[in-house]
Amino acid sequence: MGRKYDLVVFGATGVTGEYVVEEISRLTSTPGYKTAPFTWAVAGRSERKLLESLRSVSELTGIDVSQVDKIVADVSDTESLRQMASQAKVVLNVVGPFWFFGESVVKACIAEGTHHVDLSGELPFTEKIHALYHEEARAKNVHIVGPCGYGSVPADCGVAYLQEKFEGGEVNSVVSYGTMSSTGTEKSSMFHYSTWQSIINALANTSLVNEYHKKMYTKPLPEPKHRQESKFPLHYSKEVDGWCMPYPGADPAVVHRSQYFSFHERKQRPVQYAAYMKYPNLLVCFGISLILIVAMLFSQLKFTRKLLLKYPKLFSLGIISKESPTRAQLEQIKFSFTAIASGWKEKLTEATDEHVEAPNKKLKLVITGTNPGYRSAAIILIQTALTILQEKDKLPALGGVYTPGYAFAKTTLVTRLNSRGLVHESNVQLSHKILLENVDRFPNPRKQPNKVGNVDNYSAYSTAVCYCRQILLT
Ligand SMILES: NC(=O)c1ccc[n+]([C@@H]2O[C@H](COP(=O)([O-])OP(=O)(O)OC[C@H]3O[C@@H](n4cnc5c(N)ncnc54)[C@H](OP(=O)(O)O)[C@@H]3O)[C@@H](O)[C@H]2O)c1
Repeated sequence: MGRKYDLVVFGATGVTGEYVVEEISRLTSTPGYKTAPFTWAVAGRSERKLLESLRSVSELTGIDVSQVDKIVADVSDTESLRQMASQAKVVLNVVGPFWFFGESVVKACIAEGTHHVDLSGELPFTEKIHALYHEEARAKNVHIVGPCGYGSVPADCGVAYLQEKFEGGEVNSVVSYGTMSSTGTEKSSMFHYSTWQSIINALANTSLVNEYHKKMYTKPLPEPKHRQESKFPLHYSKEVDGWCMPYPGADPAVVHRSQYFSFHERKQRPVQYAAYMKYPNLLVCFGISLILIVAMLFSQLKFTRKLLLKYPKLFSLGIISKESPTRAQLEQIKFSFTAIASGWKEKLTEATDEHVEAPNKKLKLVITGTNPGYRSAAIILIQTALTILQEKDKLPALGGVYTPGYAFAKTTLVTRLNSRGLVHESNVQLSHKILLENVDRFPNPRKQPNKVGNVDNYSAYSTAVCYCRQILLT
């Protein structure tokens, strides 16, 4: 693929885009860069804004990126998108909400034979792109991979990683628990307003997901003989020592898609998956569930949806607002993702063979980091793009629209992410830690203090949103 740039960051002027530019500029100053250098450019709808963003990142990092090439492209101008895509090997797309802006970028990338990774956590968007563009992408041998941020790489690649580390055995099910807390004293939102817009728009279009699934899932998956233990949606988990409810984002659907394709195309035993978030206390869970009902109802009609978007503070009882959190506040957000795999010590010959005995082996994966929505998301997005660029031989042989867990199962993505976590640069600590523990040796997870603050409240709010979606789907 003779292209001018290896990577093009589309949406570099946005909040997330600037984190992506910052991380790329830091990467290019590491010794590892010399052994695997890459060319890159930024893209957006205003050259002036692109220059301003590059200057502001240069000031922040002390690394001058103001001379990096700039490409002007607007989602409403198809020709400009094709021009952009034609110059890149991989487009890193951070222009959202993706439901409104993402499809034309995917189309341009497929038309120009350009790989594409994005940060969408909007389930209707990810499923629509698979349902409508998988075959086209396959025909053009283009890899369209998403969502490649905090949603859903820890979950989806975490499941694939646990499968790989099961050493001669096989995984039956994985349950995961996410926690987030802020070490800051000031109350602040954990994300910018654009993510709120994305959530509301995703909710508004949830009813379409079933239609896309009918197109995507044409063959059945085998019924598991040993069903994953079902938990009451609101339950106390000893694993993470706290009250938990189902995870609100796209992770379960993304993992399901990976398992579907792993079974049908790689003949791998499908893993059952359940995802939960831990919340500070029961009161928060109940309070947020109340907000959920309003969010569910209001997101369905144009007029009431406008109200949700206009008054986020009112409808989220003060949890979310149009006032952006500062970088310092975002850096104080810590996350931890714990995934526990349960399965057997031995692997049977066929993916459909049934074990007679109950699962007899467990393995736990813990991923921790800071600022999940922005810094960690940027690190993950870039490493997925570099994996496509540098490990093409380990990706699915044919292109297509893929989940990260399926696309990167045979690559070194986890090692790449881990290596970025070990780096300490200027005054920013990138602390991705990936720990693998045998549960039998570590039966009691370390107790973590509960934290009551906006971050945890947000998690509970998101869970409420998840329940709305589930209600809509059933
Ligand atoms: N899954 C995850 O882990 C994760 C993490 C972070 C963010 N996100 C998602 O990423 C998206 C961006 O978030 P953000 O906070 O960075 O938003 P933002 O600050 O509002 O940035 C949006 C970007 O899109 C660009 N844009 C808007 N309309 C455009 C158009 N017509 N043509 C070209 N570019 C256009 C903006 O350009 P201008 O500067 O010219 O307006 C800007 O660069 C959201 O959907 C958010 O939900 C996901």
